[in-house]
Amino acid sequence: MNNKFEFPDEGIGAEELFKELDSIKSNDLQWKKGRAFSYVYYADPKITDILSRAYTTYFSENALNPSAFPSLRKMEIEVVEMCKSILNAPDHAVGLMTSGGTESILMAVKAAKEFAKRNKHIEKGELIMPVTAHPAFNKACDYFGIKSVIVPVQEDYRVEASEIEKHINDNTILIVASAPSYPQGVVDPLPEIGKIAKKNNVPLHVDACVGGFVLPFVKNKKFPNFDLSVEGVTSISADIHKYGFASKGCSVIIYNNEELRKSQFYVYTDWPGGIYASPSIMGTRPGGAIAVAWTVLQLLGRKGYEELVDVSMKTAEKYQNYISSFDDLEIVSSPDMCVFSFKSTDFDIYELGDEMHELNWLMDRQQSPPALHMSISPIHAEVFDEFKHDFEIAYKKAKKLNLKSVQKNIQIFAAKSLKKILPDNSFKKLQKKALENGKSSTRSAALYGMMGELKGSGSLDEMIVEFLDQMTRKDK
Ligand SMILES: Cc1ncc(COP(=O)(O)O)c(C=O)c1O
Repeated sequence: MNNKFEFPDEGIGAEELFKELDSIKSNDLQWKKGRAFSYVYYADPKITDILSRAYTTYFSENALNPSAFPSLRKMEIEVVEMCKSILNAPDHAVGLMTSGGTESILMAVKAAKEFAKRNKHIEKGELIMPVTAHPAFNKACDYFGIKSVIVPVQEDYRVEASEIEKHINDNTILIVASAPSYPQGVVDPLPEIGKIAKKNNVPLHVDACVGGFVLPFVKNKKFPNFDLSVEGVTSISADIHKYGFASKGCSVIIYNNEELRKSQFYVYTDWPGGIYASPSIMGTRPGGAIAVAWTVLQLLGRKGYEELVDVSMKTAEKYQNYISSFDDLEIVSSPDMCVFSFKSTDFDIYELGDEMHELNWLMDRQQSPPALHMSISPIHAEVFDEFKHDFEIAYKKAKKLNLKSVQKNIQIFAAKSLKKILPDNSFKKLQKKALENGKSSTRSAALYGMMGELKGSGSLDEMIVEFLDQMTRKDK
């Protein structure tokens, strides 16, 4: 193999490259072995194999120009129609595929902005969202110059409709609710929020990126209706690349109003290269993702999804019961689907996350409240006993760790770990701040603790930007 940072003079053989790919991949998250509780939603290798074939059949095709590839146009329309039926959209509803939840959300916000500009002459719009809504909405507000009005949730982490109503004014362009929110897996009370939205004539977007391919198939539903059948809901996003089990790059956005959808389109007519029109953020749109979405929805059908959702829901309950059997661990709120988090009433939960990570299990660390996140897929049914075995070990170790015993590790950890990822000056700032506040530190548990201290100081954002920068440069 040549020096990795140089463009090879001559091409390298496929055999050698695949060997290298297998080798570097071996350090990645072992999602096929059920070790990931986020990032990858995995059902079964047979499904993945079939979808890989669908992807490669459309490996190079580009959906930017639908008239060039009528088959992609046909498949995209059929995907949207199939999604409309599970999300109870009225016949006149219209939609599009996007590359993922974030793009669907960006499009919902852009559409609401243009719509409000045209129909209500709002120049500087405001978007009302519960604090638990996905940061893609904050991103959208930042990108499109909209003010985000973030409202608190109740004790059960669901937002109250009256809390939203308090903030509606003449500049409100969109209300947002989640089905469910990622952190706690709870569905916001859409029927009540829908009433408020309708009464005030404000569009309402439902983020069902996580729930779109679970909630329609849950048996004995306990949550309120959440989809386009709810009065007041004007758009919904659902990710086929999450619980739809498609390859990455597949989401849909559906509007019950044609004018809203048109407001997400982009047109530029003065380019010397010709008239440019594109329906969403991406220019080139990978045909493979559309082919996969089309294939998976029909491969599984309603029955297939019902079966997979049943396994995920029952498995989530098993994990929740197991975790709750520890006196000092608690499931946060009452999750409506197979996505949940748990916290400790007694010790630093991030230490438990770190210990599990040492044993190659990945659970996202959440804040407010400090908790560990679990998105359960069918694969997790198979690894339950293995999980229990390792969890017990990790739990005992995490409980043993207390501030005293880890105090000495502060500098060691900081030097070894933080220094690796943060540039010198921000590392020093972080350390100084942490020491000023008397915080100790071990591994990422401590990093989170310290981040809590730094909130609002302005330097946290700066450091995270530097962190991202370092992660995407060759010297990292
Ligand atoms: C509720 C919710 N909405 C939106 C998104 C964004 O999806 P993506 O990562 O596909 O852009 C996520 C991602 O986890 C999510 O949990």
